[in-house]
Amino acid sequence: MGHVWRCAHLLLYCCLLLSTVGVQGSGYLKYKDPKQPLNTRIDDLLSRMSLAEKIGQMSQIERSVATPDVIKNDYIGSVLSGGGSVPAPQATVQEWASMVTEMQKAALSTPLGIPIMYGIDAVHGHGNVYKATIFPHNIGLGATRDPELAKRIGSAVALEVRATGIPYIFAPCVAVCRDPRWGRCYESFSEDPKVVQMMTQIIPGFQGEAPPSSRGRPYVAGTRNVAACAKHYVGDGGTNKGINENNTIIDFSGLLHIHMPPYYNAVINSVSTIMVSYTSWNGVKMHANHFLVTDFLKNKLKFRGFVISDWQGLDRITSPEGSDYHLSIKLGVLAGIDMVMIPFNYTGFIGNLTSLVHDNTIPMSRIDDAVRRILRVKFTMGLFENPFPDPSLAGELGKQEHRDLAREAVRKSLVLLKNGKYGEKPLLPLPKKCGKILVAGSHADNLGNQCGGWTITWQGLQGNNLTAGTTILEGIKSTVDGSAQVVYSEEPSPDFVHKGGFNYAIVVVGEPPYAETQGDNLNLTIPAPGPSVIETVCSNVKCIVVLISGRPLVVEPYINKIDAFVAAWLPGTEGKGVADVLFGDYGFTGKLSRTWFKSVDQLPMNVGDPHYDPLFPFGFGLETHPSN
Ligand code: BGC
Ligand code: BGC
Repeated sequence: MGHVWRCAHLLLYCCLLLSTVGVQGSGYLKYKDPKQPLNTRIDDLLSRMSLAEKIGQMSQIERSVATPDVIKNDYIGSVLSGGGSVPAPQATVQEWASMVTEMQKAALSTPLGIPIMYGIDAVHGHGNVYKATIFPHNIGLGATRDPELAKRIGSAVALEVRATGIPYIFAPCVAVCRDPRWGRCYESFSEDPKVVQMMTQIIPGFQGEAPPSSRGRPYVAGTRNVAACAKHYVGDGGTNKGINENNTIIDFSGLLHIHMPPYYNAVINSVSTIMVSYTSWNGVKMHANHFLVTDFLKNKLKFRGFVISDWQGLDRITSPEGSDYHLSIKLGVLAGIDMVMIPFNYTGFIGNLTSLVHDNTIPMSRIDDAVRRILRVKFTMGLFENPFPDPSLAGELGKQEHRDLAREAVRKSLVLLKNGKYGEKPLLPLPKKCGKILVAGSHADNLGNQCGGWTITWQGLQGNNLTAGTTILEGIKSTVDGSAQVVYSEEPSPDFVHKGGFNYAIVVVGEPPYAETQGDNLNLTIPAPGPSVIETVCSNVKCIVVLISGRPLVVEPYINKIDAFVAAWLPGTEGKGVADVLFGDYGFTGKLSRTWFKSVDQLPMNVGDPHYDPLFPFGFGLETHPSN
């Protein structure tokens, strides 16, 4: 009898041992085994998680509050840099990487050791990072009509982001901007959904091309790629009068035909995450829209990645913002949001969400769906196997090959709208032996102006000390023949222009940098002194006007005085791309990705509209041949 007891005890002991350490030896955890099928790993990990650990995975907090203790104690799943939020001014790749490393160590020291996923806005290159390559903003990429170029840019940006140890970006913005008065119009590739759809090829650039077996499911090829985020779902570009974060008034069929199409491509191209828009659709906040987030995106389109809120997007469900955070969390999470960009009030978020689960307002099945999706992305991107920055990628940031690619993108994004006055022969390309030329205007020698918003800071900066790059003036100087004389004057007097003996003048004017609501603008005029510089210069010498702007501006009053007119959008750090085309090393090929209106009272006015009467139609763009 005693013997039987001892055997039974031994058996029980063995069973306990096996169930705690797993069958394949001590310390084995199924979810940590990359050879296990994805769903097995997800199920195994989820089954081990407490509610606190699950809610932690759903929490994304800002870098500035993400101490190792907070990450550990609240099991935080993700950290972000808001616009301009950096570990130190002009931080090096090593400083970025060691910041991520410290946070990652904290996450890995928790009992389950689930890695954090660090995210950042890389909307035209790794914009927050000193000396990164800054590419043209999306409006310019749309003008290239070159999806293969977008894809190459995506791969380059992924490498620059990985150089700083970051595996996740809040890009691309696939907004279909229908009104240039919107401050985010430059983040949109085009007013035409087809052009936006085409440019979603930037996603396989960011993430790597998904093999056929992974298409339509979240996919990141490895540590030289990043998880992407299509934003802002859905209808962000359709708000009334282009007012940021406002109401998009359109019927369901209109929504499906204009604003939804890029999401079909994003999902098919295996985008890992999708960010919800601050905007409302017919009066209902997108952050509370169960039909569009859960029924449509998750159930109908079969999106398998995770849905992330925008920055304080839940807070903004109520008015005034944050007035009922409990209700906001309930509506947002029940609508289907999986990860919440909190970003600061994480105690409020965690406390409220915990009580909403305890009192059964939010079912555990909803929490499990959210966490499954987040874990699916973390597993598929290899974060468990490679949670730390790879120091061998340090040299990728701002490297020459990427700058050459950005310069190519600048060349292809330029749209030539006028070339010679009526009845005269074309002015462009200019000869490199151009004699004495004048370069004028607030944007000719200003790196910050040519980069626009989301560069070093959220709103962008003016001047030449923000980061490394080449201004348009520097590009011109290094392109012309040694015999040429380039005179620069930001705001020349009529006398100076008149008596200068210039053969040509290049006037570079436009908008100052801005982002989001600060960019909303109802008059869309060229800011002063742009118009007077155009007037002064162009009435005295043959002139080329290069406009630096995030959208078409009112130019009808000046267009007859101008000899040649180039829309250069927000080209980024590689200003030499402008001179490459002005002086004929390459031809102009860009086509308008937007309608160029005559006056703002025509707005909104998009290609195909019954009242279509543009100054330059959608798709317009003169071409030139290289002269050398
Ligand atoms: C942050 C940005 C964010 C914005 C939202 C700013 O303070 O830096 O990242 O997009 O707030 O309102
Ligand atoms: C913007 C998003 C951005 C987020 C984080 C928000 O204000 O709307 O586009 O990804 O901030 O910076």
